[in-house]
Amino acid sequence: MSDITQLQNREEESFAPQNLQEYFSKQWKVYQKLLNSNYLGHREVYCRLHELLVSYFQKPFKMLDLGCGDASFTAQALLNTKIAFYNGIDFSTPALEIAKQNMAIIQCAQTFTQGDFSELVPQLLQQQQDRFDVILISFALHHLHLQQKDCLIGQLKSLLSSGGLFILIDIVRQEKEDRESYLRRHLEGLQKHCSLLTPQEYSMVENHDLASDFPETQQTFEKISQKYNFTRFECLHRDPHDIIQMLCFYQ
Ligand SMILES: C[S@@+](CC[C@H](N)C(=O)[O-])C[C@H]1O[C@@H](n2cnc3c(N)ncnc32)[C@H](O)[C@@H]1O
Repeated sequence: MSDITQLQNREEESFAPQNLQEYFSKQWKVYQKLLNSNYLGHREVYCRLHELLVSYFQKPFKMLDLGCGDASFTAQALLNTKIAFYNGIDFSTPALEIAKQNMAIIQCAQTFTQGDFSELVPQLLQQQQDRFDVILISFALHHLHLQQKDCLIGQLKSLLSSGGLFILIDIVRQEKEDRESYLRRHLEGLQKHCSLLTPQEYSMVENHDLASDFPETQQTFEKISQKYNFTRFECLHRDPHDIIQMLCFYQ
């Protein structure tokens, strides 16, 4: 078995329900360090998200946040917006518990659902009444393979209300870059710019990313947006390391 396959298997095991608590406590601490170092540019990208939500939605709007995690940055982005309803979905029960606390500063109806969004989105589609003005996936889509991403985005198009937005914040590889070159560039950058991580934590991030990061190019997402007849597609933010982007798909 290749190293990559072994890592992939380990990663899949870590997402098994019985291991989620352990996964959460180990990985979450490291993820928080990455956020604190702002290496992934969360502050700037969520600032851009806040500006978009304020300017685009003049009327009350409903948001679906897929892979919401602890929703700490989403809560900041939603401050002083016209948010009327928020639904956060995540695998992790402990993350959802923290998300509830973080979202308490936002005055709107809120629901938190534990589960796999790839299974829950088709269920929401069947419930005709649930349509969302904005669907956000932040740092959670890149674990899926291309066909799964394509299929999910097609379903999200149908889950949006008229004039709604699908916002994708995620790692994106350059047009001429394959997955391996992307991972090398990203991991070298991380080692250079993120001194908060101990060698052991860096190694955890490296193992995780090698096993489960499958970034696509911006052009691939644009093609998917055309396939599902989104009226417009644009990149609203790109970080200085050219690792992450905020892409907006207009219903
Ligand atoms: C890196 S965190 C990002 C959290 C938050 N969206 C942010 O940007 O800070 C990824 C989150 O997505 C969740 N996640 C990944 N794939 C998922 C899936 N298929 N269904 C539900 N949650 C998922 C993980 O449990 C984790 O909380």
